[in-house]
Amino acid sequence: MKVFIIGIAGGVGRRIAEKLTEAGHEAVGLVRRPEQARALAARGIATAPGDLVAMSIDVLAEAMRGADAVVFSAGAGGKESDEATTRVDGDGPEKLAAAAERAGVRRFLLVSVFPEAWRERRMDASFEHYMVEKKKAETQLVETGLDWVILRPSALTDEPGAGRVDLGVAKIHETIARDDVAATVVGLLDAPRIRRRILEVTGGNTSIRDAVEALD
Ligand SMILES: NC(=O)c1ccc[n+]([C@@H]2O[C@H](COP(=O)([O-])OP(=O)(O)OC[C@H]3O[C@@H](n4cnc5c(N)ncnc54)[C@H](OP(=O)(O)O)[C@@H]3O)[C@@H](O)[C@H]2O)c1
Repeated sequence: MKVFIIGIAGGVGRRIAEKLTEAGHEAVGLVRRPEQARALAARGIATAPGDLVAMSIDVLAEAMRGADAVVFSAGAGGKESDEATTRVDGDGPEKLAAAAERAGVRRFLLVSVFPEAWRERRMDASFEHYMVEKKKAETQLVETGLDWVILRPSALTDEPGAGRVDLGVAKIHETIARDDVAATVVGLLDAPRIRRRILEVTGGNTSIRDAVEALD
């Protein structure tokens, strides 16, 4: 399986690429900085320079042509501006989906967020804007004819993966290792029967293989 990843140099995206490569699949994606390309190449992962916001749908479609699946795991991450959040987290998935349709890539996995993430905290306006944009992206993707899967992870950590998760339709928002999110993404990509589903995942006690198998 060849998977085109937007956000391939990010915390989750890099781990998805590594796990795909380890499993004998091929991961490719776009990076914005040459040092990211070098770091990924050292791990056997090919990238091309590219920026989701700057590229046209046609150019994006050419970049992913021949892939079996597309993963969106990018995000402005609050590092830039609210406008960047709108363009990347909000508008990015719909644009990538349009490119996937044009390139004939039917399977699309979106890494999203729990709608109730950090409701118990008093988050600032930028975080609220991020949440609104993430939801907008979900609503746009589900309107497409693609074989989409939306995976909402709880709060991400850089702890080593446990290989065990709690995966399903509605889960309590806790924490999950980026490693385990990546392994769940790979498990879902490997299970084409799972399509047009919104799933939530957090740290848990079920092996990722069993958790994916248990989905109807
Ligand atoms: N943090 C959390 O607790 C949490 C919880 C649930 C869901 N999420 C979501 O999970 C996803 C992955 O999170 P993460 O921690 O892996 O994020 P991350 O480490 O910040 O990675 C995001 C990647 O997106 C890339 N990107 C940003 N704008 C781009 C553009 N215009 N074109 C191409 N690539 C672009 C970034 O590239 P650069 O390296 O060039 O900046 C970065 O590599 C995000 O969608 C996030 O919203 C996060």
